[in-house]
Amino acid sequence: MLWWFIRQLILRTITPSKVVAMRILLTGGAGYIGTHIIVALAANGHQSIVVDDLSNSRHSAIDRVESIISAPVVFHHSDLRDTDRLLKIVEDTHPEAVIHLAGLKAVGQSVAEPALYYDTNINATLSLLKVMEATQIRRLIFSSSATVYGDPETLPLTESSRSGIGISSPYGWTKAMIEQILRDVAHTDPSWQFSLLRYFNPVGAHESGLIGEDPAGIPNNLMPYVAQVAAGRRNRVNVFGDDYDTIDGTGVRDYIHVMDLAQGHLAALNHLSPGVATYNLGTGQGTSVLQLISAFEQACGHPIPYQIAPRRPGDVAAMYCSPAKAGRDLNWQATHTILDACRDSWRWQSTNPDGYPA
Ligand code: UFG
Repeated sequence: MLWWFIRQLILRTITPSKVVAMRILLTGGAGYIGTHIIVALAANGHQSIVVDDLSNSRHSAIDRVESIISAPVVFHHSDLRDTDRLLKIVEDTHPEAVIHLAGLKAVGQSVAEPALYYDTNINATLSLLKVMEATQIRRLIFSSSATVYGDPETLPLTESSRSGIGISSPYGWTKAMIEQILRDVAHTDPSWQFSLLRYFNPVGAHESGLIGEDPAGIPNNLMPYVAQVAAGRRNRVNVFGDDYDTIDGTGVRDYIHVMDLAQGHLAALNHLSPGVATYNLGTGQGTSVLQLISAFEQACGHPIPYQIAPRRPGDVAAMYCSPAKAGRDLNWQATHTILDACRDSWRWQSTNPDGYPA
């Protein structure tokens, strides 16, 4: 305890005057996005406390983060639905704010096992809210998703675009439902401070190449799949559809570098205020599947084999956002290009071909 107060005193003298060092609880903090957020938090003097059940992550990711930030990360291996255990962890570590990332996120699996997704994602959030209520912690940043917009009516998507209609998977519904739960809870007590961050497509890795995305089994998402083909782990990329109404017929998405996304959380943390604020975290630029493959070829220096395959059920033609609100209110914007993301993803993939050590 004593060392913590001494560290706080030192940090307060070396961090920018407006930033107060905080203890932040990251649920799901051992995962792809969480590990990158810990690095961004540490660079700004904040200390991370991670609660993760390691169902889709490895403890060695935390070891890697510790070597990047040269500081220990408090880690608890626990399921958020174990409310008594979570209460004990929070009482012992007394965080000042929470970044809630924990949840299952495989779109296809959620269609096959909806009850698992509703139980895990919704009940984990309710358990967390109970503990926050009991311990008087009122600040929470929620990892939401562009999936809450369903099939977009118009592009770019803004925070006031229609949401919560036509969502194509139980995974997506859990994100929309949790947003609604948080809005309802905020109505009960004006001291709650919630920030709902709607991520577009997170890609890339920390520039060190020490941490990155490490999907279990066959990757569902485009960038890790392309990276594994580039590394020779898989034969070719299946391009799901080339007859969409887009620049080259392939699906268009707003790919955001994971370090930009991490900075977005920091900006949201610095601007938390009573009530609920919702932000798109994306670049505002659309990139097609073929454009992404071409950028990755430039990054890795060799051709990436691909074949055109049928459309994937549930996919939309194009999704990209206007990040203007986050720019205005949070003073945040993405700074990395798609080529930067491909280079960083390739560095991670080529130096860690089998992902994190067990
Ligand atoms: N794609 C391929 N081949 C692949 C994988 C993907 O062609 O092997 C295409 C898809 O058809 C789509 C694009 O690449 O056009 C991006 O697909 P991803 O699976 O990488 O990403 P999605 O946009 O489908 O999904 C992402 C997140 C979800 C989230 C959704 C919200 O992974 O968690 O955005 O829009 F719900």
